[in-house]
Amino acid sequence: MREKLLINGGNNLSGEVEIGGAKNSAVALIVAAILARDIVILTNVKPIEDVFCLISILEKLNVNCYYDKKSTLIIDSRRIKNTRLDSDEVYQLRASYYFMGALMSLFDHAEVGAPGGCNLGERPIDLHLLGFSKLGFDYHLDENIFIFDKKSESETTINLPKISVGATINILLASIGREKRVVINNIAIEPEIKDVIEFLKKMGANIKCRGRRLTITPQGKLKGVTHKVIPDRIEAGTFMILGSILSPYLKINNINIKHLRNIIDVLSKIGVSIEEGDTYLIIRKQSKYTSQNIKVKPYPGFPTDLQQPLTVLLSMCEGESSIEETIYPARLSHVDSLNKMGADIRIEDNLIKINGVKNFKAADVDGEDLRGGISLVLAALLGEGESKIGGVKYIKRGYSDLVKKIEGIGGNIKIIGETNK
Ligand code: UD1
Repeated sequence: MREKLLINGGNNLSGEVEIGGAKNSAVALIVAAILARDIVILTNVKPIEDVFCLISILEKLNVNCYYDKKSTLIIDSRRIKNTRLDSDEVYQLRASYYFMGALMSLFDHAEVGAPGGCNLGERPIDLHLLGFSKLGFDYHLDENIFIFDKKSESETTINLPKISVGATINILLASIGREKRVVINNIAIEPEIKDVIEFLKKMGANIKCRGRRLTITPQGKLKGVTHKVIPDRIEAGTFMILGSILSPYLKINNINIKHLRNIIDVLSKIGVSIEEGDTYLIIRKQSKYTSQNIKVKPYPGFPTDLQQPLTVLLSMCEGESSIEETIYPARLSHVDSLNKMGADIRIEDNLIKINGVKNFKAADVDGEDLRGGISLVLAALLGEGESKIGGVKYIKRGYSDLVKKIEGIGGNIKIIGETNK
């Protein structure tokens, strides 16, 4: 049998959880590290599948990595060699596209397979390509592989027509190696992007960030540094939602309160009790919650990565709630499975409409992407009886030690079956 999570739900969960380093920061920092052509030490890197995939891609570039599989990753790129990147990991991972930008900074030629990642509907990379061409790189496709060649170089301003996390980071990485000034307008400003900027500045990059504008001025050689990845606000938000539905008391440690403001605001309006510290939060579940209409937006708006888990909490509110998913409107893989588990969710135009229900019920269902998968875990922890949740490989892309963390607060959860990749 393929790997599944076996969950016996219906119990309160109380205690403390530790949040790991941000997935979306780590996957960019690990690639950005090669710009130093030196030794970089990253700490607070959580052991998730995406990190293991990136390490194996780095090894193809003759970059040595040492990872203690807990939190410290050492990346030695002193002997980096440019090579075509087209292994399975490149196609599995979304963040493999950061090798495009990073290799373009180091070399005049780069060959990188088209990125993979969770199926959230259409995920184009036209904005990345627009930036690369403004930076003087031509590209063509050899089947599924993007081949980039440097043609020219001049001072440039890139106006991104849409806010994109990936395009902002990728174009920034490609800009570091340029010999002329680059301005990027309408950038995404997620905390993970600020983390990447801080990291590059520590290495010696000359970057100015004002609002949604980045200016990158040519600098000398970069150097290796030690950098601690920021806490994962999406993992924290997931446990905030878990606490809201299941915990008389849940202390969530190792967070940055400033990065959670948008999530705290939404949960507070619903009626969740939240006590705040700078690096921790205490959640206390309440008996009655008020329905809300939420719009998902780029940061500082409510994150799309928590849209799916939020539907579980909104199912516990009285009356009808809605979520407008403006970033990935097709991010809906959880809806049918949650309905099988007793939810009352329907899609109307561009809205996810959620009618409050009394509780969830146990079921055998499959997660089809990372955040969809975790929303099924939350529902299974609420519903009385034994649930089996498939699609564990997706959940492992973003959550480390999930079973241990949930067991640690009293949850009845274990992994059964064979690991499947
Ligand atoms: C990143 C995150 C992902 C998160 C998403 C939105 C990583 C590894 N992943 O994904 O967890 O859900 O941000 O916060 O950091 N778009 C285009 N053309 C492009 C690029 C994007 O049209 O070239 C569109 C997308 O389809 C989407 C929107 O822009 O509608 C935002 O996507 P983007 O911010 O780029 O998402 P990712 O970087 O892929």
